[in-house]
Amino acid sequence: MRAFVVREAFGLENLALVDQAVPEPGPGQVRVRVSAASLNYRDLLMVQGHYNPRQPLPLVPASDGVGVIDAVGAGVKPERVGQRVAGMFAQGWIDGPPDHATARATLGGPLPGMLQEWIVLDEAGVASVPEHLSDVQAATLPCAALTAWSALVTLGGVRPGDTVLVQGSGGVSSFALDFAVAAGARVIATTRSAEKAEGLTQRGAWKTVVTSDDPKWGKTVRGLTGGRGVDLVVEVGGAGTFAQSMRAVRLGGTVAMIGVLAGGRAEVDMTPVLMGQVKVQGVLVGHRAGFEAMCRCIEQHRLEPRVDSVFPLAEARAAFERLGSGAQRGKICVEVSD
Ligand SMILES: NC(=O)c1ccc[n+]([C@@H]2O[C@H](COP(=O)([O-])OP(=O)(O)OC[C@H]3O[C@@H](n4cnc5c(N)ncnc54)[C@H](OP(=O)(O)O)[C@@H]3O)[C@@H](O)[C@H]2O)c1
Repeated sequence: MRAFVVREAFGLENLALVDQAVPEPGPGQVRVRVSAASLNYRDLLMVQGHYNPRQPLPLVPASDGVGVIDAVGAGVKPERVGQRVAGMFAQGWIDGPPDHATARATLGGPLPGMLQEWIVLDEAGVASVPEHLSDVQAATLPCAALTAWSALVTLGGVRPGDTVLVQGSGGVSSFALDFAVAAGARVIATTRSAEKAEGLTQRGAWKTVVTSDDPKWGKTVRGLTGGRGVDLVVEVGGAGTFAQSMRAVRLGGTVAMIGVLAGGRAEVDMTPVLMGQVKVQGVLVGHRAGFEAMCRCIEQHRLEPRVDSVFPLAEARAAFERLGSGAQRGKICVEVSD
């Protein structure tokens, strides 16, 4: 079978298509014929060696992918053959809080990822995907979408009438916008680019704030809520945006800490956190129970992930390059097999 791997050294230049034996499922396992994968920024960092410089190589990258079960091992019901499933990002995390072992056993590093024509996974490490989505669309769900779901629903408890602030027009934030609207909340979306603001409005944002024109955008966001502040912030910027998020959030509200696009270290004024009784909630993708609940929501609301581009497996390096360029509008996907 064909697999796309980062070979003996890190770096995009070391990505190559190789031939590997088709794996056989062991007891309690399923074999998935992978049809599509999608890329996350983590995958690029992993290939570059920035995510985990001690990751053993070679590695098949990409944590997100979808396919059909075509063989099962002992102890797995044969009816599972033919089911279309996604691999879960954290393979052993079924529900509840994570533990160290399950939080670390993730696809696309340290475990092999989805850029290969077949993958063997534990039966508990896969879940069905919404029927109305194409394989490519469904392949976008395991990491970015589930992270947004965990931030808003599993951990954030967003309710109808709430106001949610999403930062930027990227994968996690676009899913968060969809889920917040589906939950009956109104959404304020920031973006660094005036061009992208219109797209956010079309997707359902109530208001947009262009941050490049407005360094004190947190105050602007608070103003839009009549001075109360938003109930929950989807924080993907990290160090460079946290202070403005603190201005935007209401007393007793939540800042869901997801990404560090604008830096991972900052001098933080702690006083507004305690004076405002703000909950700073770290989010690490999510568990299978969350994924299943999210898929029910996606199905009921007929939500459709936005796909930027689709590359054939043999050209997956170009997919990573597009991810690195930052030019994408939606998820970058790879067609792994027919
Ligand atoms: N904690 C977790 O479990 C988890 C899971 C998934 C992702 N993440 C992290 O979450 C972050 C977002 O992931 P993603 O997949 O949504 O990324 P993405 O699709 O690449 O989108 C990032 C978006 O954020 C905005 N942005 C980029 N740089 C920024 C900056 N310096 N300051 C403010 N906004 C900026 C941009 O929107 P505009 O151009 O519209 O401004 C961009 O489109 C990444 O850091 C990723 O590693 C964490």
